[in-house]
Amino acid sequence: STIKAYRAAILDSLGDPAELGIPESYRYFEDGLLVVDNGQISALGNATDLLKDLPADIDVTEYKDALITPGFIDTHIHYPQTGMIASYGEQLLDWLENYTFPAEHKFIDPAHAEEVSDIFLTELLRNGTTTALVFGTVHPQSVDAFFSCAEKRNLRMICGKVMMDRNAPETLTDTAESGYEESKALIERWHGKGRLHYAVTPRFAPTSTPEQLTAAGQLLQEYDGLYMHTHLSENKNEIEWVKELFPEQNGYLDVYDHHNLLGERSVFAHGVHLCDDECKRLAETDSAIAFCPTSNLFLGSGLFNLPKMEQHKIKVGLGTDVGAGTSFSILQTINEAYKVMQLQGEKLNPFKSLYLATLGGAKALQLDEQVGNLEPGSEADFVVLDYNSTPLMGYRMAQAKSLEERLFVMMTLGDDRAVKETFAMGQSVFKRD
Ligand code: GUN
Ligand code: FE
Repeated sequence: STIKAYRAAILDSLGDPAELGIPESYRYFEDGLLVVDNGQISALGNATDLLKDLPADIDVTEYKDALITPGFIDTHIHYPQTGMIASYGEQLLDWLENYTFPAEHKFIDPAHAEEVSDIFLTELLRNGTTTALVFGTVHPQSVDAFFSCAEKRNLRMICGKVMMDRNAPETLTDTAESGYEESKALIERWHGKGRLHYAVTPRFAPTSTPEQLTAAGQLLQEYDGLYMHTHLSENKNEIEWVKELFPEQNGYLDVYDHHNLLGERSVFAHGVHLCDDECKRLAETDSAIAFCPTSNLFLGSGLFNLPKMEQHKIKVGLGTDVGAGTSFSILQTINEAYKVMQLQGEKLNPFKSLYLATLGGAKALQLDEQVGNLEPGSEADFVVLDYNSTPLMGYRMAQAKSLEERLFVMMTLGDDRAVKETFAMGQSVFKRD
């Protein structure tokens, strides 16, 4: 039969602890069974209960000292920046000029784009990330390479070509017209193909003319289900620059709003320095924010105010933001998110982190019917985490008394080594040896 089952401790997110309260926000089976049929989850529950009703010859894989969770969701990452992660010394605008743009030039070569796409997706899966919202470069071939590679592995991925028609090296710019046409051709080729979706991707307000932002808004009008993916209010000098470039607009978010770029499939990376009016507008339009702690710390951008987003009921997911982010690991991203909250006198509960990493990310991407939890009927994207991934983690886990404590230790000490196996549509797509 096509049915397979996985037996381990299983933890699933049910919703935002800020809304439901912590106990109602998850379900946990100490001796759990996840049943997968034809790429979808068909059952989840206690192993002994479920096994009674399943055929006796069913294929059951057992994991000891392990925890199954939904696959992780990265709501903001740049695949072309894989090769320049950990570049020294600069804050956002100089970092872009000195490191990012030179790295992105190389994607004019489709062979390079293919090679990096493959390395990038392997790295995501090694870290337990099964869905991501991904920046390409200005070159359409960068997106063709990425989607081809994701399609081969049957992954649920969202990507788009950067639109950038000013304030960047000439070889890295398009025009309002060519950016529109090239995006359109990519949408026709990839959007809605299998598990793939397209994101209209103006890099950020400073690198697009008003004409280009208008064209981006037009694309969103012309097709159903497109995403809009950009950066917002990351760095103070960036915010000042946006005010100079768009003096008629009432702040950074208003530049995007004016060009009809807000909405339920719009994802804004960072939002570190937002005012209350901007938060209100994000909530009203059901737009989402990608919280990127390792990047915000690495570039010295600032401390993201998660409680403020909760108060405004803004959808939030986690983003690694590689190459400004310093890890592909969502576990390590949570570790840094916790510290960002501590610096503001706040606690980040591990069940909130679980939500952000899985179902919250899926909701931010309007994909919670498909992925982000282990509800029967969802696509079988999940990870197996190893409680003994390092000697230190194993030793620390032996002292941990509750699920909450074990989860917190996993999220603080865990990294790629904690990912034992990753599944996409019920297929093993990474296995640690
Ligand atoms: N703002 C505009 N482009 C970028 C980028 O590539 N990375 C980050 N972190 N911020 C940006
Ligand atoms: Fe980014």
